Amino acid sequence: MLRSAILAASRSPQMRTLVEKLPPTRAIVERFVAGEPLDAALAACDELTATGRRATLDHLGEDTRDAAQAAATAAAYEKLLEALKETGLAQHAEVSVKLSAVGQFLPQDGEQVALENARRICTAAADAGTTVTLDMEDHTTTDSTLGIARQLRADFPWLGVVLQAYLRRTEADCRDFSGPGSRVRLCKGAYQEPASVAFQKKDEVDRAYVRCLKVLMAGEGYPMVASHDPRMVKIAGELAERNGRKADSFEYQMLYGIRPEEQLRLARSGATMRVYLPYGQEWYGYFMRRLAERPANLAFFLRAMATR
Ligand code: FDA
Repeated sequence: MLRSAILAASRSPQMRTLVEKLPPTRAIVERFVAGEPLDAALAACDELTATGRRATLDHLGEDTRDAAQAAATAAAYEKLLEALKETGLAQHAEVSVKLSAVGQFLPQDGEQVALENARRICTAAADAGTTVTLDMEDHTTTDSTLGIARQLRADFPWLGVVLQAYLRRTEADCRDFSGPGSRVRLCKGAYQEPASVAFQKKDEVDRAYVRCLKVLMAGEGYPMVASHDPRMVKIAGELAERNGRKADSFEYQMLYGIRPEEQLRLARSGATMRVYLPYGQEWYGYFMRRLAERPANLAFFLRAMATR
């Protein structure tokens, strides 16, 4: 119930205005978001790489209905990739992109605009010597996002995609995307989805996650295990071993600010550990999904409000 209410609020412009105005919000947001300017993101990225972690940077934004805004987001990614190249951080950092931030929902030719903007970003990533992963949004976008990914992969075979284990279709998608060179970030899924398309109970989602992991680990691609769940992390390690995978043939991924000690432990153990690092002004939707994920995150937020 609470999760549904917070996820509904994550898409409400009225709630957005309200939450953005709450005095303690900024300090709390900083727990999950690197900051607003590019410099803040680069500094956080530098800190992560200095401790043996890799990064995937997300210039925050989603759901744009404005072509100029979509183009501006693509330009921001080009600037980010140029900076990663110049600073040498591109060796350890890639970028993550939401297609809805680069035009997928535009009323006219949205998919085409998103494809062209994503192509600009992939070209800049290739020039910087790094990669791009397409985030996955709610289930109404899955076919469109995978379709655009397939087109981009013809020119940028290293392009990664996110698959969400809570969707009933995902085990089959994992099979489709487990071929040579394929990079799949497997997460549980963060949106409010109907039972017709998604598992609803936590244990069903967890079991689906393990089934998908089995497909990806046995496949020929590069699995990216995006979870903070200690059970999933353990099972991923066991499956990697069972499939004879070396540490450089798969990676663990966690979100910025979540389980940093575990991130460091995995990195020190010799595993590849990447941190999803969001930055920029458009933090509202991302932040609300983090609150919805975990009662402790919400409690932290409410406590901070109460002490002001
Ligand atoms: P889950 O939330 O089920 O928690 C299981 C256990 O993990 C908890 O019981 C606890 O032990 C531990 N845990 C979780 N959060 C913790 C915390 N804050 N502190 C301490 N322990 C904690 N989603 C999506 O729909 N599209 C996308 O593109 C992405 N992209 C993405 C990238 C990356 C790198 C990550 C890590 C995640 C995403 N997600 C996502 C979000 C994802 O779908 C999911 O909502 C969250 O990762 C939460 O699910 P978990 O697997 O972490 O476990």
